[in-house]
Parts: sequence; structure tokens; C-alpha cells
Amino acid sequence: MTEPRRRSWAEPFKIKMVEPLKMTTREEREVAIREAGYNTFLLRSEDVYIDLLTDSGTSAMSDRQWAGMMLGDEAYAGSRNFYHLEAAVREIYGYKHLVPTHQGRGAEHLLSQTLIKQGDVIPGNMYFTTTRLHQELAGGRFVDVIIDEAHDPTDAHPFKGDVDLAKLRQVIDDVGPERIPYVCIATAVNMAGGQPISLANLHKVRALCNDHGIRIIHDATRVAENAYFIKEREPGYADKSIAEIVLEICGLTDGCTMSAKKDALVNIGGFLALDEWEVFEACRNLVVVYEGLHTYGGMAGRDMEAVAIGLQESVQFDHIKARVGQVKYLGEKLQDYGVPIVVPIGSHGVFLDAKAFLPQLDQDHYPAQALAAELYLDSGVRAMERGVVSAGRDPETGENRHPSLELVRLTVPRRVYTQAHMDVVAESVAEVWDNREEVRGLQMVYEPSDLRFFQARFEPVG
Ligand SMILES: Cc1ncc(COP(=O)(O)O)c(C=O)c1O
Repeated sequence: MTEPRRRSWAEPFKIKMVEPLKMTTREEREVAIREAGYNTFLLRSEDVYIDLLTDSGTSAMSDRQWAGMMLGDEAYAGSRNFYHLEAAVREIYGYKHLVPTHQGRGAEHLLSQTLIKQGDVIPGNMYFTTTRLHQELAGGRFVDVIIDEAHDPTDAHPFKGDVDLAKLRQVIDDVGPERIPYVCIATAVNMAGGQPISLANLHKVRALCNDHGIRIIHDATRVAENAYFIKEREPGYADKSIAEIVLEICGLTDGCTMSAKKDALVNIGGFLALDEWEVFEACRNLVVVYEGLHTYGGMAGRDMEAVAIGLQESVQFDHIKARVGQVKYLGEKLQDYGVPIVVPIGSHGVFLDAKAFLPQLDQDHYPAQALAAELYLDSGVRAMERGVVSAGRDPETGENRHPSLELVRLTVPRRVYTQAHMDVVAESVAEVWDNREEVRGLQMVYEPSDLRFFQARFEPVG
């Protein structure tokens, strides 16, 4: 029998417009990273070659989305594009009521201010930086109820986004259901490495919450990516479409906060979607205070149109397969070089395990921050820290939080880079890996009070 021929996969689009990339010398990068205080968020983008800082707002829009931009109805009130977006959210996610916001954290703000009272507790499947901060600013306390496997970068559990039901039950017993305004469930859990939650687990979370009359609010930022993993890995879902799986996930939750800058393939935008009329009404009241009228919420009409079209594109199988496939391609290249990464490879990026990469560095010398700076120095590839800097300080004790995951996130923008770019990135990481013993730690010399990872500054130690 002859071996079947190799069948490569390719991006399901062709390129219609290009943006030239600038390459820099090592000397130029040394100046740039020093001026940026060794924080990749503070680099100028023109000093970056391949930008894997984030997948947020960095997608390439389709020709249909750009055409939609020309159909922007920029009326202050009642824009036609708002109604398109509302219809798309109802069709694709199934939630009844829509509150548009300028981006995801706008939705988190409105929801937290509406539902959380001083002393409340919000259990969730791992924290996200802006989500937790808004919960804390509203007087709440986040409690992590994700399974233990999610905190171990080497554990290959297929659904590391799952909730540990015993942990959730314990929180409910400890504080009482009346102190829990909602359980916060993220799909494709960002801080765990883009790890999915299974539908089997979500059904159980729903049943437990039903027993106690507790809402579930879904961070739907990467729900289509999560749905792809369910189709691939969860028994009984191989023949379902991405759209069907997305609907089932959303149907198990009472509403969502959404950063449209990820799955929905736009450069700016977000929303809150809710089934309960009373909660919706309260949030619609607040949106006019903080974001804009309830039919634009901080977005231009053209941006709402692009989100509406992007939501449709997000659940197309060829798109999501290639999107997650490109991340897998990069991750497998790094594994071939022996580089320690979070497994299984996640949906939106490859996460380097900085503790295993730089065992010589104490966590208080910011190994992930140092590694991201070193990668930039090597090739101009920009990544970001997801470790002790991102975790910030405990608001009660003021002490640094020391998360078990100390990661560098190589986040892949959607439809922007080719596989050749991924090869260059992998080769650069491999180069830093080969010279890892020379990487020095950092000390923080400027620390902003909130979300410090965005603006903190560092210097090399000793
Ligand atoms: C899981 C998750 N939730 C919420 C947000 C916040 O969204 P935004 O950046 O649009 O405010 C992000 C953004 O990175 C995210 O990844």
C-alpha cells in the first residue's frame, strides 16, 4: 500500500492589501527596549517587527467588513447598524438584549456596577485582569474555582478551562448563594493559556447554579475558539457546527460580556448581552453615563456594522480551523526545539513557561517580563508578560500575588501573519532558549496602582 500524500493546509483567504514591516538592528532594539523600561507595552509599534503582543483589536478585517464600514449610519440615536448588531447577537449567541460598549472592559464595568454589592463574591474559572479589577472596584472579591490542572503548564488535560465543582460548591456553602451575584465563566480561558471549558462541565455548573438560584455570566471573548476545541475533543460534538456549539454554550449562561476585538475580528468594540430584562434595564441606564447612548455605547455606526459581520465570520469552520491551526503550528515548532510551553497548545497564542525557561530567576525578578524583553532584543518579535506583573497586588494585603503560571504570551493576531512569520518567531525563541543562561532578571522601578503590567517600568538587576 502506498503512503497517502501529504496534504498541507493553507490560510482560507488571499491577501488584498499589505502593510510593510520594518526591520531593526540589535543596537536599535537595545535603545528601544531601554527607553520602554523593559516593558513591551511601552515600545513604539514601528520599532516592532512581528507583533505578537496581543490578539486584541489586531485582526485583519475581511473585504465584507470593510464594505460594511462604508455603510455606517452615524446617527446619534437608533443607528441602523445597532439593529444589525442586535440581530447578529441574537442569532449567533442567542441572548435577548444588547448593550453596546466601546470594548470588553466597558461591559465589565457596567455589569459589575449593576450586580455586585460590597462584600460579594464572584467565583470564576481563573481571573482575567480587567474583569477582576472591575469586580474589585465594585466591592466584590474574585475566587478562582478552575480545576487544579489549569495551574500546571505541563498537564495536558483537554479541558483546562473546566470548573472544579467541589470548589464551587465550597464557595457557595462558605458565603451563601445570596452573596454570589453571578458565577463568571470564561470560554478559551486566556490566563490559563487559551484553554477551553467542556460542555459537559458547563452543563454541571448550570445545574449547580440552578439549585442555588445563581446567575452565570459568560466572558464570550473567545467563545468560537472554545467551540472549535469542543468539536475536536468532546465526545458527541464532532458532527455539530461551530455555530451550534456556540449557541449551546451561550444557552447555558444568562448573559455575556464581550470584547469584540478578538473572536469578532474588529479593531474596536464590545458589548454586554443579557437575558434578564431587569439587569439589562439597569445596565442600559448606566451605559449612557459611561459609554454613550444605548444604541451606540461608544462605537461608531461603522464599527457596529463590522462587529455584526465579524460575528458571522467568527463561526465559519474554515476560518476558525485555520486560526487555531496557525497557533498550533507555532506551538509545535517550539516543541520541536524543546522549548517549554503550556500544553495543550491554546487557541489564541502559545504561552512560554518562563519558570521552566529561566529557572535561574526568582519570580520576584520577573522571569516572564525578562524573557519577553529578551525575545524582542533578539529579533524584534513582541510578546507580553502573563505572570507576577499581570497578577498585581492583593487589594487587602497589598502584597504581590505570586501566580503558579509565569508565562510569556505569543499571541497570534487573526488573519494577519503567514506561516513564514511563525517560522521566524519560532527560530527567534529557539535562539533565546539556546542562550537562556545569560538572561538576567529585572527590578520594577515604576509601578502604577491599577493594571500595572500596561505601564510599569523595569531595569536589569545588578
Ligand atoms: C478574556 C478577556 N476578557 C476581557 C477582556 C477585556 O476586553 P477589552 O480589552 O476589549 O477591554 C479581554 C481582553 O484582552 C480578554 O482577553
